[in-house]
Amino acid sequence: MVSQATSTKLVSGEKIPIVLTGHALQSLRDSGYSLPAALGEVIDNSLEANANNITLHFEESQSRSGKRHIHRITMIDDGDGMELDILQRYLQLGFSTRYMQTDTIGKYGVGAKLAALNYGQRIDVWSRTSKDEPWYHVHFDLEEALQEEKKGETVGIAPPDTEPLPKHIVSFIPQDSGTIVLWSKVERLEEGKKAPDARALKAEITHELSRMFRYFLDDGIKICVDGTNLLPHDPLMLMEGTWGDQFLVKYYSPLRKSFEKTGIKPEFPLPDVTKTHFPAKRIAREVINIGQSSCKLTITVYPSEVIRKKYATNKKDELTKNLRLEENMGAISFIRLNREINYTTLPRIFGERVASSHRFIGIEISFQPELDAYFGVRNVKRGVEPYDDLKGQLRDLFSKYIPEALNCINEVWGEVSRKSNDHQGEHYPLLEAAKEANRTMPKSRVKVTVDSNQKERIIEDLARDALPGNDEEKQEERQQYCESIKDLPFIVESVDFPGNLLIDTQHIDGQVIIRINTRHRFYREMWEPLRSIATALPESISSDEAVKAARRSIEALTLLIIAYGKAESMDENPRQHFSDLRSDWGKFTDSLMGKVKDVI
Ligand SMILES: Nc1ncnc2c1ncn2[C@@H]1O[C@H](COP(=O)(O)OP(=O)(O)OP(=O)(O)O)[C@@H](O)[C@H]1O
Ligand SMILES: [Mg+2]
Repeated sequence: MVSQATSTKLVSGEKIPIVLTGHALQSLRDSGYSLPAALGEVIDNSLEANANNITLHFEESQSRSGKRHIHRITMIDDGDGMELDILQRYLQLGFSTRYMQTDTIGKYGVGAKLAALNYGQRIDVWSRTSKDEPWYHVHFDLEEALQEEKKGETVGIAPPDTEPLPKHIVSFIPQDSGTIVLWSKVERLEEGKKAPDARALKAEITHELSRMFRYFLDDGIKICVDGTNLLPHDPLMLMEGTWGDQFLVKYYSPLRKSFEKTGIKPEFPLPDVTKTHFPAKRIAREVINIGQSSCKLTITVYPSEVIRKKYATNKKDELTKNLRLEENMGAISFIRLNREINYTTLPRIFGERVASSHRFIGIEISFQPELDAYFGVRNVKRGVEPYDDLKGQLRDLFSKYIPEALNCINEVWGEVSRKSNDHQGEHYPLLEAAKEANRTMPKSRVKVTVDSNQKERIIEDLARDALPGNDEEKQEERQQYCESIKDLPFIVESVDFPGNLLIDTQHIDGQVIIRINTRHRFYREMWEPLRSIATALPESISSDEAVKAARRSIEALTLLIIAYGKAESMDENPRQHFSDLRSDWGKFTDSLMGKVKDVI
């Protein structure tokens, strides 16, 4: 017989099969599954068969270049197993016991096949529904199928046999019912193709599966990858006992120890020693109605232990890498029936351009399969893209909540900066320079003098404002501080005080003490961001952030001047009362700026 796959000549009037099985399967190999997503299809099936324990086992070999790659993958579950006829049909493209159902993860009848063929050429499956049965086996081999097709034979799946289980997995076999899926002839991960390093690939798989199946892991389902039980990874940081929680405990412990030993303050506040859970703050939980159904949007802001100090986060930093903050920048986690089917950025919906602060925002959209059409769910269950009305609703919600989330992040930065007393002494270099400049400037006219006792108290008060706290160490620091500011004509300190006052001035014996209020919006929204940028490593700041901060600063300066004008207008005769003040202010600014330069 002439092979249908190769012959283009047909006998007239003859009907031909609609699918050239071997060729079609060959083409379908490029379904675009990532390896974790492909493995996810098999795990889905195990979960739907009520498995409690799922074990993944990878076999590696070494290529000629010495690189290790994965060439066989076994997945074992202790689920319900399959009856003989279902087992045989497992391999049939399009067969599903839940075809187009809306209450199951699977519905297309292609997952098990397409995922396997995407990476390997052979699938072997063993299954049993109780411990009294033997393990029945079926297989499909693409090479064999192509040979059969070439010979003009019908490509098919033989009935189950009792082929023995592979030896290497005997120790993982479930006692009772279960299913074992073996992918072999895995050639898509070998040299010459994308050829990822086996270790890196396994780390990637672990991370991805921990996130994709986090709700199942959180509920107690066990997924074990080469001997390691997965912990859930929650990009919302709401779940307890996650990978993130465990990492943060580990991350802060040596920092605390080093602080206890050396007394050197870490850059950011340390969490309590007993803290084992680091929950994010939930800022949105919205139900979005679409048609007869609804989906849920949750937005969170990460805890201060992750946000830390502004610009502490950069690509190479350990915390950033381990919590995968870079990939979370603008990413949305799509959850369908508790299983994450996509974790991706959708710029057109997200609205604003993604900046580095977005890495501290968790976004999740969860929905039921009834809404598959609205979310553009495809048979490979990847590439979610919300449509129409849903898209508009999401866009509106993002434009409301993302700025709110960014505000929360800024607040944390401000708070961390205030708590760690970062701003204390921040003006000191300028004050030293201003002292020099003051030598040739007109002398103070202040007539109200204070005695030495009062003076001491005023300076002590300032020291207490700048360095609060009662321990011995603080008292010593305060003494040094008083000493250091003794001869300065201008003392400027950023301190935290209630009320709307932006600055407060005190005049003592030729000294001017100026307190800048760190709680004032002007300080928080202009000074603080600018100072953070000024003290950061250039590579840790995006040009977007720098431009944004510069723009806000121009706004703030203009508004400061407007507010000054407005304040003058509260006086009956501003011209008479303030013109000297204004002219002196202008003159001294000019003079100081001429003399003091490049000190910071
Ligand atoms: N581990 C398993 N335990 C028991 N039955 C299974 C298992 N894996 C697959 N099956 C059966 O094989 C059928 C085919 O699986 P397959 O993944 O190809 O399709 P599906 O899960 O029904 O749909 P989808 O293509 O959306 O994944 C399933 O419907 C199920 O009945
Ligand atoms: Mg499936």
